[in-house]
Amino acid sequence: MDLKVVCALAITLLIALSTLAEGIAPPTKCQCKLVPRERTNCGYPGISAVECKKIGCCFNASVPGVPWCYNPRAKKVKKVCPNEPYTRINCGHPGIKARECQKKGCCFRAHPAGVPWCFYHRVMEEAC
Ligand SMILES: *[C@@H]1O[C@H](CO)[C@@H](O)[C@H](O)[C@H]1NC(C)=O
Repeated sequence: MDLKVVCALAITLLIALSTLAEGIAPPTKCQCKLVPRERTNCGYPGISAVECKKIGCCFNASVPGVPWCYNPRAKKVKKVCPNEPYTRINCGHPGIKARECQKKGCCFRAHPAGVPWCFYHRVMEEAC
């Protein structure tokens, strides 16, 4: 395997692992950006900011009358077909047809020559 493929595999693996670890990882700023009326309570009343964050919740005490310790929104991810042809990770076999490739849930682009035409998606975290 050449280095590019190894790198692409490593990146994909890291993304997969970080997705698995989602429940443990602290929420990002983006995930805590909720309008106050959409907040759902996390933790107990009077919880401190430190305790709140420790259990994986968001804390913001700037608005009275709404939960200050609240659940983060789910991480939004989207599947994209990478544009860079030389980092494609093969999902098919030489000569695979578009239909067969799509059945496997992979991306298909019949160009350029010398790279896989049926290749895996990449999972991207969506910006807020
Ligand atoms: C706290 O929430 C308010 C209202 O949504 C927002 O304007 C403010 O930027 C938030 N503060 C922090 C530190 O996120």
